[in-house]
Amino acid sequence: MKFVCMFKYLFFLLAGVSCNSVENKIYVHLNYTIPCVRLLNATHQIGCQSSLSGDVGVLHVLESEANLDWVLKTGPNPPYMVILDSTLFTRSIMMKLKTGSSRVAGVVVVAPSSNPAEGFSPHTTCPNENSGVYSESYDPALAHCNVTVWNPLGNGLSYEEYDFPMFSLKDDNDTQAIKQCYYNHNHVVNGSSPQYPLCAMQLYSHMSAVTDTATCMRRNGINFSLNPEIVCDPLGDFNVLASTRPLNYTDKGHKMGESVVIAAARLDSRSFFFDIAPGAESAASGFVTLLAAAHALRNATQEAQPNRNILYAFFQGETFDYIGSSRLVYDMENKQFPLDLDNVHSVVEIGQVCIILLIALHVTVMWHKLLKFKENFVEKLIRNLNSSALNLNFSLQEPSFSQPLPPSSLQRFLRARPIPGVVIQNHNSAFTNKYYESMYDNAEYLNMSYPPNLTPEEQLEYVTDAAKALTEAATIVARALYTQAGGSDPIQLQNINVTQMLYGFLVKSNNSWFQQMVPSDFAIHLLVMCLQYVSSLFIKHFKTTTAKCCIYMWVQGAAPPNSTERVAFCVRSTVRLSKALSPAFDLEEYTSKDYSTWTESRWKSIKGRIFLVASHELEMLTLGVGVAVLIASLMLTYIISSKADILFSSGREPTAATY
Ligand SMILES: *[C@@H]1O[C@H](CO)[C@@H](O)[C@H](O)[C@H]1NC(C)=O
Ligand SMILES: *[C@@H]1O[C@H](CO)[C@@H](O)[C@H](O)[C@H]1NC(C)=O
Ligand SMILES: *[C@@H]1O[C@H](CO)[C@@H](O)[C@H](O)[C@H]1NC(C)=O
Ligand SMILES: *[C@@H]1O[C@H](CO)[C@@H](O)[C@H](O)[C@H]1NC(C)=O
Ligand SMILES: *[C@@H]1O[C@H](CO)[C@@H](O)[C@H](O)[C@H]1NC(C)=O
Ligand SMILES: *[C@@H]1O[C@H](CO)[C@@H](O)[C@H](O)[C@H]1NC(C)=O
Ligand SMILES: *[C@@H]1O[C@H](CO)[C@@H](O)[C@H](O)[C@H]1NC(C)=O
Ligand SMILES: *[C@@H]1O[C@H](CO)[C@@H](O)[C@H](O)[C@H]1NC(C)=O
Ligand SMILES: *[C@@H]1O[C@H](CO)[C@@H](O)[C@H](O)[C@H]1NC(C)=O
Ligand SMILES: *[C@@H]1O[C@H](CO)[C@@H](O)[C@H](O)[C@H]1NC(C)=O
Ligand SMILES: *[C@@H]1O[C@H](CO)[C@@H](O)[C@H](O)[C@H]1NC(C)=O
Ligand SMILES: *[C@@H]1O[C@H](CO)[C@@H](O)[C@H](O)[C@H]1NC(C)=O
Repeated sequence: MKFVCMFKYLFFLLAGVSCNSVENKIYVHLNYTIPCVRLLNATHQIGCQSSLSGDVGVLHVLESEANLDWVLKTGPNPPYMVILDSTLFTRSIMMKLKTGSSRVAGVVVVAPSSNPAEGFSPHTTCPNENSGVYSESYDPALAHCNVTVWNPLGNGLSYEEYDFPMFSLKDDNDTQAIKQCYYNHNHVVNGSSPQYPLCAMQLYSHMSAVTDTATCMRRNGINFSLNPEIVCDPLGDFNVLASTRPLNYTDKGHKMGESVVIAAARLDSRSFFFDIAPGAESAASGFVTLLAAAHALRNATQEAQPNRNILYAFFQGETFDYIGSSRLVYDMENKQFPLDLDNVHSVVEIGQVCIILLIALHVTVMWHKLLKFKENFVEKLIRNLNSSALNLNFSLQEPSFSQPLPPSSLQRFLRARPIPGVVIQNHNSAFTNKYYESMYDNAEYLNMSYPPNLTPEEQLEYVTDAAKALTEAATIVARALYTQAGGSDPIQLQNINVTQMLYGFLVKSNNSWFQQMVPSDFAIHLLVMCLQYVSSLFIKHFKTTTAKCCIYMWVQGAAPPNSTERVAFCVRSTVRLSKALSPAFDLEEYTSKDYSTWTESRWKSIKGRIFLVASHELEMLTLGVGVAVLIASLMLTYIISSKADILFSSGREPTAATY
């Protein structure tokens, strides 16, 4: 009888406890989460990560910097999961959270729906500081941005290491719901501590790689049983190359009598959070201009070939210590490319060229002052550019003599040898780009606004001011390139139109114009998924199918007006993909000072969820009761089995008596 009572009591206790644990398990999963991930170089790791099982913290919506005290000192329920609006995503706040990381479980940044007017750049003030041409041994007075700080707004947040996870959320109803959970459960009223249960969040972004590139590459090499476990991958992709005259790719090394002008632009950009890096001005303005210039020159270079070949080079991975350009230079030096550096006549690079709110197109031509090209090369090019722009509203500027080259692929060519070259851009000292390598360097920043009520098809055709400016820039670049290649004026340029390109790269890549140019609908899906992170994908699909033969490729084409069936056709092109992997990985020099050593950690799951937690006391009670139940049942079992004869004998017939 006694035992039964005790069981009932325990049963009720257990039921009470299990109510609480059911409450704990009501999770709401976050649907749209963008993490900050870990990258490694020769000496450091940067970025964010959570523990293997995800980091849990009590939600705290940060309202001002003063409010940090609650998180770092006074709040009674650490660790905290800090939610902050993008205006509070500053270096000062992030450094305080980083130093107080024992009380910080993670950070969630709510992305605003419009760009911050004052500018924001999480990049360093001196991009690619250690991998350009200026160094302690070469022109040290210009090294480390001593003369010109290129990105004065840079706060360096992208290059810090955080030992908590960080995610970005859109400012939408879901995020409002999360904030509401905070205001309902965790908000401090009149200084009194909030009462349990509290609203908590758990973020998973565990990163497999640690310490530095050498360490993770060594671990990559170790095979655990037969399953190789890869913990990090070298950053890299493909450079996209095309030439006005076909190059014989089976014949590597020096080509007698060949002289090429390299027309270069970069393809990549980055931002603090993984894969939202539109790079509108930092990358797209330059490569769209160069693509358009190449298009404008198409007929002219077929009909009246200039003496020199023009090699259009779109470099990938330039943000990470010039991966793409250093690879091309390395291949040229090591007879891995159909040309070598002796074949290179000059380099014309298009940097950031978009101009906003200016009616006149303004470009600055930069060159490397220590080499005395001015008379024979730069002066001629400047004359070309100036006369190319006769009917355009255009101003051309040469920087003062002391001005070094901006961060540019040209620096990697100059590092190898004094090849003449210029960089065409819109700024003559610090960047005009207020959002360099941030998620705000987007279509909105280029003022690409469309009148309301336009359908996507109409938007695709709508000519924005940015498109007008880039069309002019492309015209100027095309004429200058043609003259540079030894062609004679005047030339008939093809009508160009960057409208659709800008729309496709910056607003909506799944549009009818792009669909015509890719091999399949599948490719456009890939494109839509990846465009934001690796903007080369579009151009890459021009030739993935052609990677082997490189000359012909099948594209979807447009549907004629009376039909819905596309008329596919074959295009002939000289476009080539060439590997953009840092030579450091081929050479297995993971601590290289000459080449990029950046790798990206692998991860298994990226997710987040919110739920209510009971107090620690309650959890302890749950545990205590659990243990008590266990002990009680063990005792019970022991007692029952040891006293079985006494307990169960009374109702039984004595066995011995039966027989
Ligand atoms: C910049 O270079 C000048 C001349 O070499 C040198 O005197 C100065 O100390 C340098 N400044 C910095 C911040 O390195
Ligand atoms: C690696 O990255 C860190 C952080 O940006 C930087 O301080 C360091 O100089 C880099 N190391 C090399 C070898 O480039
Ligand atoms: C967000 O909430 C507002 C007001 O409650 C509502 O009008 C709107 O449709 C919601 N948006 C989404 C995407 O649910
Ligand atoms: C995520 O999406 C699911 C279904 O679409 C929805 O039920 C859930 O509420 C969403 N999560 C959040 C945090 O809104
Ligand atoms: C907070 O304190 C003020 C003054 O002490 C009081 O008037 C107010 O009602 C309190 N608010 C709540 C929610 O307790
Ligand atoms: C790891 O395993 C792969 C195949 O499973 C093999 O090709 C490779 O050589 C192995 N690496 C080492 C370092 O044993
Ligand atoms: C390309 O070069 C290879 C090796 O020199 C040669 O055999 C081949 O004929 C060349 N192809 C063309 C189209 O010139
Ligand atoms: C050229 O730009 C100036 C201002 O920079 C402007 O006043 C002028 O109207 C423009 N001319 C044309 C033809 O657009
Ligand atoms: C460009 O040409 C205009 C006249 O057409 C001249 O006034 C200007 O000085 C030239 N600019 C440069 C940098 O040569
Ligand atoms: C560019 O294309 C659009 C739509 O196709 C057209 O309206 C516009 O006039 C074109 N602009 C130029 C400069 O050709
Ligand atoms: C360029 O060449 C194509 C095909 O050869 C032709 O259809 C087009 O009219 C030409 N454009 C110009 C401006 O000559
Ligand atoms: C569509 O129009 C083209 C020319 O206008 C014609 O050649 C073709 O036969 C038409 N196709 C159909 C299915 O009517």
